[in-house]
Amino acid sequence: MKSALRYAGVKSGDSVMLPSFICRDLLSAVAELGAKTVFYEVDTALKPMQLDPKISAKVIVAVNYFGFAQNLEPYNEYCKQTGAIIVEDNAHGFLSRDENNNLLGTRAKFGITSFRKSLRVQDGAILTTSLNDHEIDEQLDCIDSPVSKRNNLLRLLPSFESRTKIPFVAIGQSMSRAIRLVRTGSALPKPDPNAETTIPGLANPHLQSVAVLEALDEAQEILRRRNLYQVLRSQVVATGATMIFADLPDNTCPYGMPVYANEESRRKLAKVARQNRVTLMSWPDLPNNTISTAPGFYKQVWLLNFQ
Ligand SMILES: Cc1ncc(COP(=O)(O)O)c(C=O)c1O
Repeated sequence: MKSALRYAGVKSGDSVMLPSFICRDLLSAVAELGAKTVFYEVDTALKPMQLDPKISAKVIVAVNYFGFAQNLEPYNEYCKQTGAIIVEDNAHGFLSRDENNNLLGTRAKFGITSFRKSLRVQDGAILTTSLNDHEIDEQLDCIDSPVSKRNNLLRLLPSFESRTKIPFVAIGQSMSRAIRLVRTGSALPKPDPNAETTIPGLANPHLQSVAVLEALDEAQEILRRRNLYQVLRSQVVATGATMIFADLPDNTCPYGMPVYANEESRRKLAKVARQNRVTLMSWPDLPNNTISTAPGFYKQVWLLNFQ
């Protein structure tokens, strides 16, 4: 995201408009350029409530939440009136397309796709731009050192899981949360105090992440994700949770199944996740500045993650 903002001309003192329903880590890309974040709210369908042209920004970020195409029309309208540039945040939408069969992440001048979220790899994201090669930096060198043992294990587990029908990943996740709860008093990792200001680690991807990306059978992966979505539909509704996207449009490759759930439904969803050998995750921490004013439904979002 930092590179996309930089290529879009974001400089110190500029404003970048982000939805307030966003993971707080993304703010570090804005902060590292010395720019300011301005928030707009989204509704329960995760579409912008209002993009006010009186609030100007150098860049406006449109998010394809969970791989479902965001309608870019209101964003185009906002840009027409303000001169802002759209960055399409397709962190969740690897392989997904919109109703016109356009690949998500390629529909604006700049797009990012965080394929590390969809594949079991340690790192890796794609920046898409309509700029010419001579206007952008060279591809970053890959890190040619072994990836973490945890990551290697995660990549091997799907075939064990489908052979044994045992949800190793979900069990492992429950165990590590229980251990963390005993050790630290919190089942989830403590928020990083620097998450909104500093991007951790190197931007370079591991060689293995790129190799996994290149070896992927994309058609098969899209089919797997779409089938899972259909299989889970009735099970999820039976928990009392509400699907955020009731329809699965033809070209959508879902990151997972996002739902609104209260505590009771959440417990039932955890069981559905184990039975279907997927994991259940909460939305990452919201930005500090938006937590106190965020609509209640932001905090009820859960994801059955198809990774
Ligand atoms: C909508 C959205 N955009 C961007 C990011 C950041 O992606 P990455 O962690 O791959 O930099 C996230 C992280 O969760 C996200 O949810």
